[in-house]
Amino acid sequence: MKVVLAGDLDPPEWEAWRTALAAALPEGVWLSADEGRREDPPVTAAVVANPPPGSLAGLPGLRLIQSLWAGVDRLLGDPTLPAGVPIARMVDPAMSAAMAETALWATLALHRGFFAYQLRQREGVWRVHTQRRADEVPVLVLGRGAMGNQVAATLRRQGYPVAPWGRDGGPLPPLLAAAEVVINLLPLTPATRGLLDARFFAAMRARSALVNLGRGAHVVDDDLLAALDAGHVRHAVLDVFHAEPLPASHRFWQHRRVTMLPHAAALTDPRSAAAVVASNLRALRDGRPIAHLVDRVRGY
Ligand code: GLV
Repeated sequence: MKVVLAGDLDPPEWEAWRTALAAALPEGVWLSADEGRREDPPVTAAVVANPPPGSLAGLPGLRLIQSLWAGVDRLLGDPTLPAGVPIARMVDPAMSAAMAETALWATLALHRGFFAYQLRQREGVWRVHTQRRADEVPVLVLGRGAMGNQVAATLRRQGYPVAPWGRDGGPLPPLLAAAEVVINLLPLTPATRGLLDARFFAAMRARSALVNLGRGAHVVDDDLLAALDAGHVRHAVLDVFHAEPLPASHRFWQHRRVTMLPHAAALTDPRSAAAVVASNLRALRDGRPIAHLVDRVRGY
């Protein structure tokens, strides 16, 4: 089975993917987009990781685009993306587990004041905060997909009261007013772009915290900075940004109330995700249903 690989991964990353994919689908022949364009009969599938716009043009036989990324916002933003070709997003159990670990770390650190203790250390200040139980720290998880659900389940097991919210979940403000930690795992779509704006932050409980594990474009940065400067939002843990890498001049880098990760909260793990890809490629070949298909209009 001939498959085009396209995306912005670096050579060692592609090497890891080729090795894992070859093991998961021994009958696979993995081609660059340029090689794929010369194939006759034409290539029927592409496996992509945020491919540069235009990468998938000139592949008239394509019947499946399988993303290695969970979020397909950049893929869907490519105006040259072949119309009518089904797109599948990555739902990787190891990735969901990693996301749950990151969410748990952030929630624990916010709840127990570990980020504040880190600052106190730099300042040479020895001061003990009051200690609360997990069941006293309500958490709101935005996003009810594979990752949002696993994050919610993990936090519940740890004792946190968790409210989940999804696209059809009714009004947000009452949930925001009740939560002390808000974790964003929404897909980025036209409906969620800029959702985390001044109104959203004003609806959050005073001195609550934001953990953004979704996309940078969910957040209106100036509005978040204003809420942080005012102390209304007490801390933000941010994994994703409008521009990545985040420009050195951006205020998030040095802000006392911001903890940053370099879009590393949960990486797709080739060791488990290759099996997900292979399963969908076999389904395509055998005419069985494809898993995790994207609705292009809905945006995820
Ligand atoms: C990571 O952000 C992904 O979409 O896989």
